[in-house]
Formats: sequence, C-alpha cells, structure tokens
Amino acid sequence: MNQMSNIIVLGAQWGDEGKGKIVDLFSDRFDIVARYQGGHNAGHTVYIGPTKYILKLIPSGILRPGVTAVIGNGVVVDPLALVEEMATLEKVGVNVREQLAISNRAHVIFPFHRMVEKVGEGRTDREAIGTTSRGIGPCYEDKIGRRGIRMADLIDPAGFEAHYNNLAADKMTLAKAFDVHETIDFAAIRQQYEELAGKLAPLVTDTASLLNRAIRAGKRVLFEGAQGAMLDVDHGTYPFVTSSNATAGGACSGTGVPPTKITGIIGVSKAYITRVGAGPFPSEDHGPLGEQIRQVGKEFGSVTGRPRRCGWFDVPLARYTAAVNGIDSLIVTKLDVLDGLPEIPVCTGYRVNGVEVTDMPATRTGMDSIEPIYTKLPGWKTSTRGISVLEQLPPEAQAYLRFLEERTEVEIGGISTGPERTETIVKPGSRLHQLLG
Ligand code: GDP
Ligand code: IMO
Ligand code: MG
Repeated sequence: MNQMSNIIVLGAQWGDEGKGKIVDLFSDRFDIVARYQGGHNAGHTVYIGPTKYILKLIPSGILRPGVTAVIGNGVVVDPLALVEEMATLEKVGVNVREQLAISNRAHVIFPFHRMVEKVGEGRTDREAIGTTSRGIGPCYEDKIGRRGIRMADLIDPAGFEAHYNNLAADKMTLAKAFDVHETIDFAAIRQQYEELAGKLAPLVTDTASLLNRAIRAGKRVLFEGAQGAMLDVDHGTYPFVTSSNATAGGACSGTGVPPTKITGIIGVSKAYITRVGAGPFPSEDHGPLGEQIRQVGKEFGSVTGRPRRCGWFDVPLARYTAAVNGIDSLIVTKLDVLDGLPEIPVCTGYRVNGVEVTDMPATRTGMDSIEPIYTKLPGWKTSTRGISVLEQLPPEAQAYLRFLEERTEVEIGGISTGPERTETIVKPGSRLHQLLG
C-alpha cells in the first residue's frame, strides 16, 4: 500500500496563480484529482507541449490518462458548460466518460442564476464586484438558502419537476419584486435540463464515498483549488470575493474527505500578484511597470479576457493566506515575468494611519487605508525562462526568492519559470519534494 499522501493545491493570492499548470505537473503521481469548490468561473491553463488547454469545471487531472477526475459536492455545476467542456476534451482524445465522476450532491446552475447575477451586478446603488457572470453567486445563495437543486435531484425523474417548479416559483417572485421584465421560458429550460441530465447521469455518483474508499485502499488524492484564498467568502476581501471556500477547509467540506486524511497543503503564488474584478489591492501598481507585467505576463483573464490588475508580491498577504490555509510549502510561479526589471519592489508591511499593522483589516475602509511599505530588491538582467535547476537561477533571482521565504516564513519548495511542465524547479529535500513522495 502507498504511504498516505493526499494533498491540496490551492491559490494563495486572488486566483490565476498558475494552479492548473502545477496540478497538471503533479497529477501523474496521484490516482485521483478532485475539485472542491467554485464552478466554471475558474480558468486553469495547462500547456502540454504547444497545445493549450483551459479547464473550467473539470479537474486538470483529466489530462493524464488513467487519473480519475472528481467534481466534488462543493462545486456548482452548469450542466451545459460541463457538456461543452467534455466535448472539447473528447475531441482531442481525452477519455472523459471513463475518467470523470460528478458528485450527486453538487448544486446545479440554471440560466436564471445568471439573470439574478446580472440584476445584482447592475444595481446602481452598490459597487459591482466584477464577477465572471456565470451564475456562481446566486447558485450558492440557493444552496445556502436550502432551495437549490443538486445533481442527484436533476437526474431523478420522479423528483426533478417538483424541485424545479419550487425554484422557478421563487425566481418569478424575485423577478416581480425587482420589477424585472426579462422573460424566462421556464418550461424550455426544464426540458433542456432534462436532456442534459440524461447525458450526465451515468457520471453522477456519491463521490464522497468514492474518495473515502479510494483513500482506504491506499490511493492518492490531489485536491485542486479554484480561485484563491483572498477570494474566499470567509477569509477573503469580503464582499469582493467569490461565494465559496477556496481555502484548505473547503477541500474537506467540498468533497466529504475528513481533515485527518489530508497530508499536506501546497500554496501557489505568483512572484508578483494579480487580481481580476473589483476590490482592494494594497500593492497594485497603476503605473507603467504594472502595465509591463500585464503585457509580459499575458495577464488577461482566461475565462473573461479581462485585463488583470497587477502589483507586487505582498508579504503580509502571503503570511495571512499561509496561516488560514496551513500552507506547508509555497510554489512561486511566473518568476520569468520579472526578468529584466532593474529592481523589484516587495510589499513587506502595511501601515494604517502611520501605525504598522500585522493583521489583515476586515473591512473595505480598513483595506483602503493601507499604505504599503516597500523594500526594493535588485533585479536580474538575464532570462530565467525554462530554468529547472535552482542553482542555475541568477544570484539576484535566488536572493529574491530567499527574501520572500524569510519574510513569509514559509518554505518556497517550487518555482515555475514558464507555462510548460518542464519549466519548473522542485527543490530537492524540500517539504514539497517529500509530499510528492
Ligand atoms: P490558474 O487559474 O491558477 O490555473 O491560472 P491561469 O491559468 O488562469 O493563469 C496562469 C497563466 O500563467 C496561464 O496562462 C499559464 O499558462 C501561465 N503560467 C503558469 N506558470 C507560468 C510561469 O511560470 N511563467 C509564465 N510565463 N507563465 C506561466
Ligand atoms: P481561477 O480558478 C481569478 C473573481 C471574479 C470576481 C470575483 C467573484 O482561474 O483562479 P464570481 O464569478 O466567482 O462570483 O466572481 O472572483 N474570480 C476569479 N479571479 N481567478 C479565478 O479563478 C476567479 N474566479 C472568480 O473576477 O472578482
Ligand atoms: Mg485562472
């Protein structure tokens, strides 16, 4: 029997840290890759040679033949988006129907969830969050409001109609209350979803049971986080967050695997930081350097194409996300994007009203009053692109990483120097190396 090794790979900033690349790289050492939250708001890019894949709902592990990909109960599933993503993967030869399992307890997104989101985001009396418009938030609202429809309900011919009619009645009341005149053809949606249910039913199962049985049998599970810790509904920059728990605890509630079975937690951070959508961002660079990073790092959303806001590595934020997640080892991605900068600012502290603070402020006003404290480190003049051995990095790049490690007090076990699998350093003897077994 293998030694138990069930690890969580999660975003330690505001998403798009390169989780897809990292999960894909490690997935050949695991039997199962499981998503635990979010939905098709995620966009995880994986390069295999020159071929680019963007995974949204389906765990990146699907790209490894023989690896089981699980969509856990904490995920919200848009059946149409899922069927489309399955078809895209099948077209390039992925055996989706053999490898994919969908939780019977995952909640279902309906078109009216997107409409509700549009109304909320369009309100003039509040600042928009800048969501991905996929219906994610309203679907989670129905889940927590105990009126949602789960995959098990969707594929249940005896029960679906009653569930659906209840939810439809709720949305009609809402539309009336908000004076929304958009016509929703509830009967057509129901029919479309019944057809989709037929396509997905063979893949729907009790994935908590599947995962726990596999773990008992000595199989290894990699939990793939979506979004990032600062977008977590509890620990992020609320209300400018997504509606799920992207932090480590979400891996347990979102799959039904108990915390006692988790062996390690790996955080993924960029060597700088980005954010898509609205909300506080203390180390944001509004100047030409921020623009340079956006261009060099191709920082445009993989789901919505929106330009990502860019800024500098934020140590207090990294310490915060390491604490709430219990990160054992950090992987720093996109180091190569900083190549050629004469010096690199790092936010090493926060000052509020002239006083240094160590805790993350909980309010918008608190976050907005942060004055970041920067330390400038020397840049490196040569390319790091594709370097896969730590000692071959320029001394300034090594010093930059050591500085981040010392200030965050978290091991940097891995470094990514390009989008491809081979463009990665895993430090020999690191905790990361140990966890990967
Ligand atoms: P995810 O959502 O966390 O999986 O990240 P995204 O896929 O949304 O965004 C990360 C982007 O950076 C993708 O286009 C990746 O191909 C790319 N990427 C990942 N690691 C590296 C790296 O080390 N260097 C460079 N230049 N690009 C990278
Ligand atoms: P991956 O998994 C970056 C952001 C949106 C918005 C906020 C709420 O690729 O890292 P939502 O549609 O979830 O209600 O939007 O969260 N957001 C992401 N930002 N990466 C993501 O996913 C994101 N998923 C949602 O831009 O600010
Ligand atoms: Mg992404």
